[in-house]
Amino acid sequence: MANGRNNKLKVGVLASGRGSNLQAIIDASEKGGLAAEVICVVSDITDAYALERARIHGIDAVHVNPKDFANKQEYEKQICRHLKEHGVELVCLAGYMRIVGPHLIREFPNRILNIHPALLPSFPGLHGQRQALVHGVKFSGCTVHFVDEGVDTGPIIIQSVVPVLDDDDEETLSARILTEEHKIYPQAIQFIAEGRLELRGRKVLLEKAETESHYPAIQNPGVEI
Ligand code: GRF
Repeated sequence: MANGRNNKLKVGVLASGRGSNLQAIIDASEKGGLAAEVICVVSDITDAYALERARIHGIDAVHVNPKDFANKQEYEKQICRHLKEHGVELVCLAGYMRIVGPHLIREFPNRILNIHPALLPSFPGLHGQRQALVHGVKFSGCTVHFVDEGVDTGPIIIQSVVPVLDDDDEETLSARILTEEHKIYPQAIQFIAEGRLELRGRKVLLEKAETESHYPAIQNPGVEI
């Protein structure tokens, strides 16, 4: 159970839906040697399955209803209070269907990550998989990036590539991409936990590991990690 009594990086997750990426992070933390743990989960949707997943693992899970607040800033202030009360050091958006506003970004500078189901900067916004199919690309994939004030525009940490097959539909392509999402999101969090990422302008540089990592690094084409 996440209890904050160890020195793992404390992660807060914002999610609006089924929470399979949340689950991948929890699993990597509980069984996979991830140097981070999910401390709390916040959802803007009252019955998001992500909340249920968190509770099953004994993780604090709350619904914060945007409609209860006068504006986005007040809503985000409440989320921020909650995250800070729990000592959250890194915020991970995992299927969070809202654009993060300046308040949260200011409170967690370069400490908010997002996962997107396309190879950014291609196909940002909603339905990245559908956009890829409509465009007719031969490869797509997923991207973990830092969150800035744009929509899926922040510096890219890690990407994974999958082929787009002639007979793919949105469902089959999404499933192939999702398998990769579940690998690269925990990997990106591990890089942050190990303090190995250096932000140089738009570029995210990965420093060599100082000691041998206990986390089984994923194989990403062309990237020696
Ligand atoms: C994922 O495809 C993610 O890339 C996108 O929203 C979806 C969330 O899925 N941002 P889940 O809730 O993590 O299962």
